[in-house]
Amino acid sequence: MKVTIQQAANLLNDGFVVAVPTETVYGLAASLRHPQAIQKIFSYKNRPLDNPLITHVADISAISEFIDQYPPGFMELATAFWPGPITFVLPIKEGSIPSIVTAGLSTAAFRVPNHVEAVKLLKKTGPLVMPSANISGRPSSTTTAHVESDFGSEFPVVDGGGCKHGLESTVLIFRDGRWIIGRLGAISARDIEKILRYQPEFSIGKSQKPACPGQKYRHYAPRAQLFLGGEVPTNCRCILGFDDRKYLRDANVIFLGTTSDPMSVANRLYDTLRHLDAVGLETAWVDMDFPHEGLWRTIRERLEKAAGEL
Ligand code: TXA
Ligand code: MG
Repeated sequence: MKVTIQQAANLLNDGFVVAVPTETVYGLAASLRHPQAIQKIFSYKNRPLDNPLITHVADISAISEFIDQYPPGFMELATAFWPGPITFVLPIKEGSIPSIVTAGLSTAAFRVPNHVEAVKLLKKTGPLVMPSANISGRPSSTTTAHVESDFGSEFPVVDGGGCKHGLESTVLIFRDGRWIIGRLGAISARDIEKILRYQPEFSIGKSQKPACPGQKYRHYAPRAQLFLGGEVPTNCRCILGFDDRKYLRDANVIFLGTTSDPMSVANRLYDTLRHLDAVGLETAWVDMDFPHEGLWRTIRERLEKAAGEL
């Protein structure tokens, strides 16, 4: 059910949960002042309680009440990328953020979104926690139709149209004197390197404890089984591919975008994965012949997770 910004602000200030657009993906929002509403987010999403949430604020000054000291490089990074699709995990003043949000950690994640409606709302409500507005494990929502397909047509949602990036924010964590990437996202390691003057490492690996607790769960997955690259399996008639390539003549090709424009591929990736379910496909082969760097790296990682390979 579409609601206006003012209706959304009233609902949030009264302790209800509302879906809100951002420039990355839609979020499922609750006020930081309402722990019972935050609890409801976990049950609506079926989200494990050990996966902490991002606190969203209208501007950088709104995080000062939670932080004693900023890690080196934070101000340069925040000035370069906020408002925008980057989340910083920072050490917080003890007790300043409810433990349901931090999953009991001594750090918390913060983001200033670059989205007119989201910022207008944040100005009326104060800090909002927002995980992506999808059932845990499913592809994130990039339209109101995705939100309604996961949570029902009565669920309150602010209509912001399609999300510009279509992929979640990059999560940066300061650990052992260096910034590391806890989750790849809409801002690439290369862009971050320009500010930091070193390439932040991506903390992942099956054997290792991931820096972002959320990384240990399956994500972004359609019900269809995805085959990534290699030979097209004989019984698989659906191909996720690129507009500028030729594929088997009798295949049902679903286009991800063009190989010259990773932004366009990112923008429709989750819609494409959700489309596989909407039309009831059981298998799909994905053309993985694209670069490993920049935004392509995030797209590749999302597909690997969606296929259950990570
Ligand atoms: O683009 C986005 O970031 C979207 C929009 C709505 O802002 N939000 C989003 O939230 O993707 P969520 O909950 O789906 O992902 C948050 C990620 C998870 O991987 C979580 O483990 C990590 O951030 N995270 C949150 N707090 C953390 C902390 N204190 N330490 C390490 N990782 C943390
Ligand atoms: Mg998520």
